[in-house]
Amino acid sequence: MDPLKNPYSPGAGAPPPELVGRDSILMQAEILLGRIKNSKPEKSLLMTGLRGVGKTVLLVEIQKQAEKLGYKTIFVEAHEDKSLGALLAPYLRTLLYSLDRMAGIGNKARRALSVLRGFIGSLKVAYGDISIGLDIEPELGSADSGDIEIDLPQLLVAIGEAALDGHSAVAIFVDEIQYLSKKELGALIMAMHKLQQRQLPVLLVGAGLPVLPGLAGESKSYAERLFNFPNIGELSKVDAYKALRDPALAIGVDFEEKALEKIYDMTHGYPYFLQEWGYKTWNKAQSSPISYTTVNLATQEVIEQLDNNFFRVRFDRLTPGERNFLRTMAELGEGPYKAGDIADKCSVKVSALSSTRANLMKKGMIYSPSYGYIAFTVPLFDQFMRRAMPNQP
Ligand SMILES: Nc1ncnc2c1ncn2[C@@H]1O[C@H](COP(=O)(O)OP(=O)(O)O)[C@@H](O)[C@H]1O
Ligand SMILES: [Mg+2]
Repeated sequence: MDPLKNPYSPGAGAPPPELVGRDSILMQAEILLGRIKNSKPEKSLLMTGLRGVGKTVLLVEIQKQAEKLGYKTIFVEAHEDKSLGALLAPYLRTLLYSLDRMAGIGNKARRALSVLRGFIGSLKVAYGDISIGLDIEPELGSADSGDIEIDLPQLLVAIGEAALDGHSAVAIFVDEIQYLSKKELGALIMAMHKLQQRQLPVLLVGAGLPVLPGLAGESKSYAERLFNFPNIGELSKVDAYKALRDPALAIGVDFEEKALEKIYDMTHGYPYFLQEWGYKTWNKAQSSPISYTTVNLATQEVIEQLDNNFFRVRFDRLTPGERNFLRTMAELGEGPYKAGDIADKCSVKVSALSSTRANLMKKGMIYSPSYGYIAFTVPLFDQFMRRAMPNQP
């Protein structure tokens, strides 16, 4: 088929041709946005799911919903090497200037700008990683202590007051939220707590790996009362078929039933993999309906490409010990795995593996779906590990 017309979009955060199977979460977001805008309390959203299920795509979609409703929005991606304050500050500055333009003289946006100025000043001391010009005097004693758990709530409350004053509302989007430090996550949760108590129109929509609810609960035990943690999972068979078929049908191309079944078998319905298989299969196909044989031809290429890119970049960041650990997991099948079973396979005690396990969690490679169990955060990684290291160590 004509590669120029290829409708599939494999990639990180690449909007799919059709956002399949996500109506209920979008509805939940619609309600959250509507209620906060009308000063009604509602839990903010922290979406969790494995790599490639479509979390970033959903964040972007909800950001669009928010903007349609008149929200001022900011979108940041948490990063292991950058502080939360430094990430947020430049966007908050832009946001406050835009609130400031909307309001009259002596407004709350000006005050929030001077609070932000103090916040930035203290970040400079704490991290030395930020330089933003703000042509305003800092408000001494507000959000400038250098302790993010004190400063961020004060800053966001000032911003919430400015938004309320300007008859506006603010939506903050944070992707890869599991990379925040415990203190930063705590600060964000405390800030949301304060905003909710004062019924200020600021909400948070975050996305992260499935470690997130645990991290949030550990950080602040009341987190579960402030947030909903919807799980974003793989697509059902019906939805996976739809994700593949609808975009092709829209341009007059169909699939054989057996072709769809084969793709579903290979991908387990994970959105990113569906896009990869759809994309490669389309380019290989000579005519409609796209056949089972074509899917088989494409599969070879897709796997090769995933092995050399998507899986490989993660593998390359691992130490030999971590690789051995993951390879042993893979030996036990798809998971989740009991910590004890992995230790048995390595012929060591569970405690001997605890530092490797902790490091793999920090790197976002594994998580604990329930007490005493661990699992891969990357779907199909067990298969990759068996290909990458044919012999179990
Ligand atoms: N609901 C969906 N239906 C079909 N494809 C989707 C859907 N959501 C996401 N995708 C595709 O999955 C891939 C990964 O999406 P992304 O948002 O980057 O995942 P995550 O942030 O969870 O790692 C992208 O190629 C995207 O087009
Ligand atoms: Mg993402």
